[in-house]
Amino acid sequence: MTFRARHLLGIEHLAPEEIRTVLDLSEKYVALNQRTEKHSDALKGLTQINMFFENSTRTQASFELAGKRLGADVMNMSVALSSVKKGETLIDTALTLNAMHPDLLVVRHPASGAVDLLAQKVNCAVLNAGDGRHEHPTQALLDALTIRRAKGRIQRLTVAICGDIAHSRVARSNLILLGKMENRVRLIGPPTLMPAGIGEFGCEVYEDMKAGLEGADVVMMLRLQKERMDGGFIPSEREYYHRYGLDAEKLALAKEDAIVMHPGPMNRGVEIDGELADDINRSVIQDQVEMGVAVRMACMDLLARNLRAERGAKAVGVMV
Ligand code: NCD
Repeated sequence: MTFRARHLLGIEHLAPEEIRTVLDLSEKYVALNQRTEKHSDALKGLTQINMFFENSTRTQASFELAGKRLGADVMNMSVALSSVKKGETLIDTALTLNAMHPDLLVVRHPASGAVDLLAQKVNCAVLNAGDGRHEHPTQALLDALTIRRAKGRIQRLTVAICGDIAHSRVARSNLILLGKMENRVRLIGPPTLMPAGIGEFGCEVYEDMKAGLEGADVVMMLRLQKERMDGGFIPSEREYYHRYGLDAEKLALAKEDAIVMHPGPMNRGVEIDGELADDINRSVIQDQVEMGVAVRMACMDLLARNLRAERGAKAVGVMV
């Protein structure tokens, strides 16, 4: 097993063998989660604090469940009620929490780079649960696990990522991961929703959805992130659905056995047809949620091993 990281801040920092280690360990946790007794003691004695400065359903719930199933003491810090609302800076909040000796800090923040900054100020393992439009590493890892289970591999696949790429940390982390694992990535969306300089990432960019979907093994849809838009990025939702909404007709252009993914939350009838999203023969959206818990268990387990090893080494140093 190879996993050297001290924090999980982004896919950017992971080597392909570290990604494989996370996925392999996640498989064990998928099996554990399917049992009636779901407990392990990988995080026994450790304290996990979840700090979500942005709304979340799936990610926060799955990090909480993951920590509890591994035996950690888990605290959800409610940012709405905290001193952040009184003007305390992110760093002050982090230092305050750090003084309570957490071992794992799970952070979601609306500003890109905020989680990296925080990781420099605390002496525990930090997991990025999404920072602005930068990265969302556990999402890309759970997507990779879902793909690997459905397709039997996570190499040499054609993956189409469609929709609001510009505002999406999910797209960015997936793009990096899929590239590292030697897949072909196509980005599909209107030019207004395509980030500048995207060509550098070695992917193909399509404005025409039908052309982009042709021959794809995986179709990953993204939510229109209206909260990050400050103007008219699309003419209307109706027009957007017509051109970029995934329905059975457009999906027919992808490979016959192509799978449909969405990180959630979904806007049914905006980026995806509701019936297609619920079609268990094509859609793996519920599998993504299931994989999310297992992947977060694996990530926290691996980081805790490194943390224990590091602290153990220091303790020995003191004794000598
Ligand atoms: C995503 C996020 O928050 O970045 N959701 C998630 O984590 N499941 C995508 C989104 O909000 O559209």
